[in-house]
Amino acid sequence: MSDALLFTPIQVGKTRLNNRIVMAPMTRSRAGAGDAATTLNATYYAQRASAGLIVSEASQISQQGQGYAWTPGIYSEAQVSGWKTVVDAVHAQGGHMALQLWHVGRISHPLLQPGGADPVAPSAIQAKGQCFVIQPDGTPANVPTALPRALALNELPGIVADYANAAHNAVKAGFDFVEVHAANGYLLNQFLSPNSNQRTDAYGGSLENRARFLLEVVDAVVAAIGADKVGVRLSPQGVFNDIDDPESTAMALYLAKAFTQRNLAFLHIAEPDWAGGQPLSQEFRLQLREAFVGTLITCGGYNATTAEALLGANLADMVAFGRPFIANPDLVRRLRENAPLNEPDPNTFYGGAEAGYTDYPALA
Ligand SMILES: Cc1cc2nc3c(=O)[nH]c(=O)nc-3n(C[C@H](O)[C@H](O)[C@H](O)COP(=O)(O)O)c2cc1C
Repeated sequence: MSDALLFTPIQVGKTRLNNRIVMAPMTRSRAGAGDAATTLNATYYAQRASAGLIVSEASQISQQGQGYAWTPGIYSEAQVSGWKTVVDAVHAQGGHMALQLWHVGRISHPLLQPGGADPVAPSAIQAKGQCFVIQPDGTPANVPTALPRALALNELPGIVADYANAAHNAVKAGFDFVEVHAANGYLLNQFLSPNSNQRTDAYGGSLENRARFLLEVVDAVVAAIGADKVGVRLSPQGVFNDIDDPESTAMALYLAKAFTQRNLAFLHIAEPDWAGGQPLSQEFRLQLREAFVGTLITCGGYNATTAEALLGANLADMVAFGRPFIANPDLVRRLRENAPLNEPDPNTFYGGAEAGYTDYPALA
C-alpha cells in the first residue's frame, strides 16, 4: 500500500502532518501522582509517533471533570509538566499531537469529585453506566455512575473558563492542537442530547439551545489558542454512556456548519458502530463533508483497505485507528507493508504499567 493516499502528507491549520493516519484518543488509566502524565506515558506515545497525528487519551480539565481513577489532568502545573515530557518525546520522533479536553459530567461518582460532591450534569438524570473509582479501603472498583446535580446557570461560565485554561495549558505543554471531546456521552454530549438535557433555560430545549454550551466552549478555546489549533470530536448516532438522541445527525450537521464559520482545524467523528450504534449512512457522510470545510477525520473499525477507500471516495481527509494502535506501535509501517497486526489484549486496556502498554513488539 506504499503509494496509497493514507501515506501522503496533509496540512492541518499551520501544521504539516506526515501522513493521514491518526492515533485515536484512548484512555489507558496509567497517569502518575497528582494525575500527571509520566515518562512511561511518554514512552508509549513516542513508540506510536509515526502516526500523522496522535490524539491523546482524554484529559480532564478540572477535578470535577474526572470520571475514572488514574486518568491524566491538564489543570495543575505538575500535569502540564507531565504532558510536556510526553509531547517532547513525540516531537523528538517527528510526530505531532493533540490533547483531548475532557469533562465527564454525569459519568462520575462522589469518590472522584472535589470534597466528595455529587457529579454535575445539564440535568439531574442518572446515566446507566459505570465509572471507575478507588474505594475508601484503597481497592479499585467499577461502580454505577452517581445521580448528578443539575448545573446552575451561573456555574456554566466557570466550566467554559476551565476549558479555555486547559487549552492554554495544552499549548504551554507543547501540544500542536487540542481536541474538544464532545462525544461518547460525556458533559458536552450530555448537553447536546435531549435524554440527558432537559433544561428549560437557554441551554436546553431546541437543537440550537442544546448546542449553545458546546459552541461557547469552542469559542473560548479558540479565543485562548487560535482556531487553527482547535478540533472537536463528535459521535453522531452514538449510544455509549446512555445517550439517546433522535436528532444527533441533524445536530452534527448544525455543529459542522458552526465549526466551519469558526475556521476550526478539524472535526473528528467517532463512528457509532464499534459501541453498539447504527452505522452512519452514505448520505450523512456526504452531508457532513459538505458542511465542514476543515480537515475531516473519521474513526471506528477501520483497516487499511476500508480507510483507503474512504479517502479515495473523498469522504474524509484522515482516518483514525484506535485498538490497532494499542497493539501495534509501528501501525503505520505495518499498514504500508501489509504486515500482519498484533492483536490487542482488552484485559490490559485500563490501568497497570508496561504490560499491554509499552511491550507490544514492533516489526524487526
Ligand atoms: C481502551 C479504549 C479507550 C478509549 N478512550 C477514549 C477516549 O479517551 N476518548 C475518546 O474520544 N474515545 C475513546 N475511545 C474510543 C476510540 O477513540 C475509538 O473511537 C474506538 O476505539 C473505535 O476505533 P477502533 O475500532 O479503531 O478501535 C476509546 C476506545 C478504547 C478501545
